[in-house]
Amino acid sequence: MNTLMDLEHLDAKVRHSDLVKEIRTHDGAYYQDDAPKISDAHYDKLRKELEKLEEKYPDLITKDSPTQSVGAPASKGFQKVKHVVPMLSLSNVFSEEDVTDFHERIRRFLGLSESDEVELVAEPKIDGLSCSLRYEDRKLVLAATRGDGAEGENITQNVKTIKDIPQTLPDDAPDILEVRGEIYMSSKDFEALNKAQEEAGKPVFANPRNAAAGSVRQLDVNVTRQRPIKFFGYALGEVSESFADTHFEVREKLKSWAIPETSFKLCSSLADIMAHYEEILEGRAALDYDIDGVVYKVNRLDYQERLGFISRSPRWATAHKFPAERAVTVLKEIDIQVGRTGALTPVARLEPVTVGGVVVSNATLHNADEIERKDIRVGDTVVIQRAGDVIPQVVEVLKDKRKGNPPSFDFPGHCPACGSLAIREDDDVILRCTGGLICPAQAVERLKHFVSRLAFDIDGLGAKIVEQFYEEGLIKSPADIFKLKDLNKTLQPPIREREGWGDLSENNLFESINTRRNIQLNRFIYALGIRQVGEATAKRLAATYGSLSALNEAMKAAQNRESEAFQELLNIEDIGPAVADDLLGFFAEEHNQQVLADLEALLEIQTYEAAQSVDSPVSGKTLVFTGTLTTVGRQEAKAKAESLGAKVAGSVSKKTDYVIAGEDAGSKLKKAKDLGVEVLSEEQWSALINS
Ligand code: IVH
Repeated sequence: MNTLMDLEHLDAKVRHSDLVKEIRTHDGAYYQDDAPKISDAHYDKLRKELEKLEEKYPDLITKDSPTQSVGAPASKGFQKVKHVVPMLSLSNVFSEEDVTDFHERIRRFLGLSESDEVELVAEPKIDGLSCSLRYEDRKLVLAATRGDGAEGENITQNVKTIKDIPQTLPDDAPDILEVRGEIYMSSKDFEALNKAQEEAGKPVFANPRNAAAGSVRQLDVNVTRQRPIKFFGYALGEVSESFADTHFEVREKLKSWAIPETSFKLCSSLADIMAHYEEILEGRAALDYDIDGVVYKVNRLDYQERLGFISRSPRWATAHKFPAERAVTVLKEIDIQVGRTGALTPVARLEPVTVGGVVVSNATLHNADEIERKDIRVGDTVVIQRAGDVIPQVVEVLKDKRKGNPPSFDFPGHCPACGSLAIREDDDVILRCTGGLICPAQAVERLKHFVSRLAFDIDGLGAKIVEQFYEEGLIKSPADIFKLKDLNKTLQPPIREREGWGDLSENNLFESINTRRNIQLNRFIYALGIRQVGEATAKRLAATYGSLSALNEAMKAAQNRESEAFQELLNIEDIGPAVADDLLGFFAEEHNQQVLADLEALLEIQTYEAAQSVDSPVSGKTLVFTGTLTTVGRQEAKAKAESLGAKVAGSVSKKTDYVIAGEDAGSKLKKAKDLGVEVLSEEQWSALINS
């Protein structure tokens, strides 16, 4: 053998070992955590490279090489599907008190009195993944995942392999019917699958949920066919004609059409609800599938309609979560994480432990005060808990297990990323890095936020890649994302030649960046990551100002706290002095203005009206409600107005289009009259929106 060959072989061996390690890490993220860190295409590319390498050097094949086991995550290949009716998630409640509040809120929203009954249907919350089945002319034509709620993936072929889902419906089913429900795997099937995986030397799934998710996301339908996944229906999406007045009737109908269902019970009082919750909790262990709570839904569909939604969850339903599961483990270290707004959060690095079917190795310690209050020290044996999708937390220290007298944790007074001073503002419990724009940790977190799902939602630019690109200086500020393709032309080596990348994944990345050059104003505002400006506030700002330039001008004018612009800002629902301060601070910063200008030059930011295009008589109008409304609750009236594209303000100004005056209206009504703003009675208002 000549030396060149030897060298090549040595290189191949090193690369082989790197690839095996990398693929194993991603297998773990996929099978154990159901949290893939790279795109499916990227993963496929790694496996292909490994296969090629082993084809050329068969002696490198080891028994534990990933090529010796199948069961890779699905390739990128599912088409996107827009949901006609969005697929929402549920708010959570944890105690009887929360349930009472939920019930009360509904009554208040609907303007009902104590004596009016609000029936709820209680049903188990299945721990699987949501799926929408669409029947047209009583034939199953489409199955889709939830995705971000507005758009999911087309998994029809895979879902058609689920035996208990009917392919056709009887004649009395409507022409268009979407059944929403949960894909899951039974405990027995999960154990059998993992046993088979183990025997075949393949990775095992951490819990039935991950196993169901992994099975349904297979691109090869033949793999899915062999996986024992099942379905439970529990709600409706789009329907061409209504066939029930209550949720209870919906569930009965679904049952009569052979849609598999869990139990459901009609409850008419709080006592009834709590008794049923206990019953389901007690029966949990005997069930052959995982449930993680009880869902309560308002029974009357007309009430559901009126209650509507608040951001991503319906007001008419909530999930009563089972108590958090706990486990005992050892605290190995405390790290300080720096958030997008500079908040320093202590994170517990733990000896990995399984809690409720999930391996946990990190938990939050909240803040310095919490560490001190609970007297948490490195090396301690601690109790951690995990409730549903909430971040695991350290609950307490088992003091009798403490060895010796380890030192108390010394919370740093400086930012671990940039060394700037960390301070507490007013009575805040959070310490914040004062490094602002010079702090690299904050910059990376801002970029991660910028590309996140509710912001620019850029596929293929996950957290790890953002970190990597930032460190290499490829992306330093948001605008760089949209210049990356040009930069790549002169980059040595170009992205496709880097470890873990290839032509396909590079292409996919640039394509997803490209499609986001056109962005809705509310998403854009949210993406800026201004402190206290979440999704809902971003929407309100977009609705109020309409365009980025109008927003920017208004924020410049509002820097003067005596100005009308400042008053207008405070007049926006849910924007108080603290949020206003953060907003004005952001827009006053020279560097942020530069970021905005750079982005504006590269993007097409849709005006809010164009994105909304609600065709209603009050679309784009500014309204103020005052006095007591008699036919609906104040909240319901506001929600209705906003859904029709109107802006609801808290006080009357020259910019107000209508004041809707209920009974006993006082100073706002007077101001409206003084300013010559049109005043509507409750009847006139309802006539206007129903016209
Ligand atoms: S109703 C608009 N009912 O829980 C209401 N959801 O945490 C939509 N889930 O996304 C959901 N069991 O995937 C509903 N009986 C049940 C459920 C259920 C499980 C899932 C569903 C939802 C998630 C929210």
